[in-house]
Amino acid sequence: MSRLLNKVAIITGAASNPGLGYASAVRFAEEGAKLVITDIDMQGLAVAEKNLTALGAEVLAMEQNVVDEDRWQQVIDATVERFGSLDILVNNAGIALLRPISEYTTADYDLQMDVNIRSVFYGCRKALPAMIASGGGSIVNMSSVAGLRGLPGVSVYGIAKAGVQNLAKTIAMEHAADGIRCNSVHPGLIDTNIQNDARRDNYDEFVKIGESVPWGRMGFPEEVANCVLFLASDEANYVTGTELVVDGGLMAK
Ligand SMILES: NC(=O)c1ccc[n+]([C@@H]2O[C@H](COP(=O)([O-])OP(=O)(O)OC[C@H]3O[C@@H](n4cnc5c(N)ncnc54)[C@H](O)[C@@H]3O)[C@@H](O)[C@H]2O)c1
Repeated sequence: MSRLLNKVAIITGAASNPGLGYASAVRFAEEGAKLVITDIDMQGLAVAEKNLTALGAEVLAMEQNVVDEDRWQQVIDATVERFGSLDILVNNAGIALLRPISEYTTADYDLQMDVNIRSVFYGCRKALPAMIASGGGSIVNMSSVAGLRGLPGVSVYGIAKAGVQNLAKTIAMEHAADGIRCNSVHPGLIDTNIQNDARRDNYDEFVKIGESVPWGRMGFPEEVANCVLFLASDEANYVTGTELVVDGGLMAK
């Protein structure tokens, strides 16, 4: 109940339930964090705010398109104004445009890269001064196993997620002296709303893919959230510039 006591955390893309941002916000709330949750989905965000408040957390919910650089500054400023510091940033918001490279348009490319990597660059760059002023902190960037190896159909999503991982390493090096850690989390197949298209388009195939994971099923959002919590907390005090794979053994195959 106190692993993040009085820590102030921003989590992007926190409206989706089941989703990794929302699940992380729940774990953070259970461990005593003060939360700033953001998303483009205001309806989902309102429900998330209500649920997290019911868990006893102090919550600030803000509409944010993570591609908007100016909005990032407003979110950081509002966080510090409301809670007095910024200790944790979870760059979680993301989309998955999955199709063969030959079918990928330039507009697809721009959208995928903007939402999944440009946003993380903005978020880290804007958060760092506030974290330095707070005496240090932890940034957790949501990557994917798709950032670690080539997978059919994953193309530009994989490029963006590899970038997220690499950016975390650079920030870890540049800001170790400021007491700021930065790591990436690499989920495998996790059953969240991001899987809705795959689930709807071919349910039998969707089930088969889950069964092909060495652990025998897709992951639960809470199983990723527990890893985000660890990296965000002081328990991971000597962990920086690295990746935490959460995939039921997928990468070991
Ligand atoms: N679920 C998986 O299998 C899986 C695997 C690897 C990595 N990931 C990554 O985890 C992160 C969360 O995914 P999820 O599975 O919870 O997906 P999700 O679709 O359930 O949630 C994503 C959230 O991000 C929000 N979002 C999308 N675009 C946004 C934008 N421009 N600005 C702000 N918010 C925006 C959505 O509204 C949604 O609430 C993503 O970065 C995704 O790439 C997911």
